[in-house]
Amino acid sequence: MPEKIKLQKFVDELPIPNTLSPKKRSNTSSYYEVTMKEFSQKLHRDLGPTRLWGYGGTFPGPTFEVMKNETVYVKWVNDLPNKHFLPVDTTIHGSEITLPEGRTVVHLHGGTTPAHSDGYPEAWFTRNFQQTGPLFEREVYTYPNIDRAMALWYHDHTVGITRLNVYAGLAGLYLIRDRHEQSLNLPKGKYEIPLLIVDRSFNPDGSLYYPSKPDQNDPGLPHPSLVSPFDADTILVNGKVYPFLDVEPRKYRFRILNASNSRILTLKMDSGQPFYQIGTDGGFLETTVKINEFILMSAERVDMIIDFSQSYGQTIILKNVTKSASPETTDVMQFRVTVPLTSRDTSSLPFYLGKFERLSLRMARRIRYLTLVRIKDQYGRSLNLLDGKMWIDRISERIEVNTVEVWRIINIIDDDPHPIHLHLIDFQILDRQPFDVSHFQKTGNLIFTGPPTPPNPYEMGSKDTVRTPFGYVTSIIARFGPFTGRYVWHCHMLEHEDHEMMRPMEII
Ligand code: C2O
Ligand code: CU
Repeated sequence: MPEKIKLQKFVDELPIPNTLSPKKRSNTSSYYEVTMKEFSQKLHRDLGPTRLWGYGGTFPGPTFEVMKNETVYVKWVNDLPNKHFLPVDTTIHGSEITLPEGRTVVHLHGGTTPAHSDGYPEAWFTRNFQQTGPLFEREVYTYPNIDRAMALWYHDHTVGITRLNVYAGLAGLYLIRDRHEQSLNLPKGKYEIPLLIVDRSFNPDGSLYYPSKPDQNDPGLPHPSLVSPFDADTILVNGKVYPFLDVEPRKYRFRILNASNSRILTLKMDSGQPFYQIGTDGGFLETTVKINEFILMSAERVDMIIDFSQSYGQTIILKNVTKSASPETTDVMQFRVTVPLTSRDTSSLPFYLGKFERLSLRMARRIRYLTLVRIKDQYGRSLNLLDGKMWIDRISERIEVNTVEVWRIINIIDDDPHPIHLHLIDFQILDRQPFDVSHFQKTGNLIFTGPPTPPNPYEMGSKDTVRTPFGYVTSIIARFGPFTGRYVWHCHMLEHEDHEMMRPMEII
């Protein structure tokens, strides 16, 4: 553990990432170039500057704002050094010592993207495309943006080092807009604010701290050795440590993303005031729900309206009330409702947001049972597996295009829940049902010990990442399509993902 540095809270203003401009634009398409660079950035008044890797040389990367059905071409350019500045474990699959450390590949998380542009973990490339991974296909990616209005994010997805590349700073937001969203008259412009939340640890000189071993004294472990999972000790929003935001007494719309490697956030306002939730990972809910707190695991997003109109003069802290949180990680950021109203708030807070078609069990062509299990690897480290299989094992999830499937995820790992993410599609959560774990381990049969519980209000609607708690069967339903090809599904705790908790999936 690094020597603890005490960073004063709420001394830096919340930065808003820049919106990216295309290099070329037509009526129906646009072309962008984004270069991944090493750079230094101040993350707190009393820190740094901190060495980072980021898209466009910033952390978070710039925000894309695109229209539904606009074809977006992006040339992702790698200008990173060949050597990583974080500890690379060369004992894990896809991260062998012979491979270049400065390899990257970009995934648009939540996007309905053709397989050739999805950022397959083995489609990596190094600086100037000098070296490329076995499944590298093309330099310019195509995003058709056929999804409705929603908040996606883009981040690194390189096999074996995703956790290090994302921790180094390779993440940014990507917003799809549409007419329907515009018709809702939600708070916009400077009243619509992205909150990309991460945890990071620091060395006293301001450099990023990432552990090189779970236990320094264990001689049986390789060095460096992956730590699984890693929760850092400081919270940052949009690249600042515990920032503050001056707000007017009016409604704001917040696009919240947990971009931490593994940390589980449970967010709540210390004023006790509610969030009006209008959307999930995959866009708008059918109706607005009023909630006081919600869990956000790695990669999950929510779209929230907060109404500060009754709070003039107050200072409100956004808290993380997850039970395991340390005193350093219970505060996220501060809102200061101190700016006088500049103009009347004419935005709306609609109750009805639009029709949402629910998929039903009887539409399913197939039901898959997939078990999350934990074994040990050759060094005695915990190895979490999807259905007991390794990354290189033969593809078992082969799905006929445009058919509906139910996936029942059976979690028998007695630990924190895992955020399970599927590429290409959005799914709906059907329910979670508790079962007798020891009976299942003995016989392979499921005996339920309670009724199924429906998803929480904040999980209704369209999702691409789901919390799968221990001792529950978490059931999701999706139509797999419209593209065919090879994708992945995985745990979004990046330390797990890098250590075998990822599997290919083929749409045929
Ligand atoms: Cu956010 Cu497969 O990733
Ligand atoms: Cu996991």
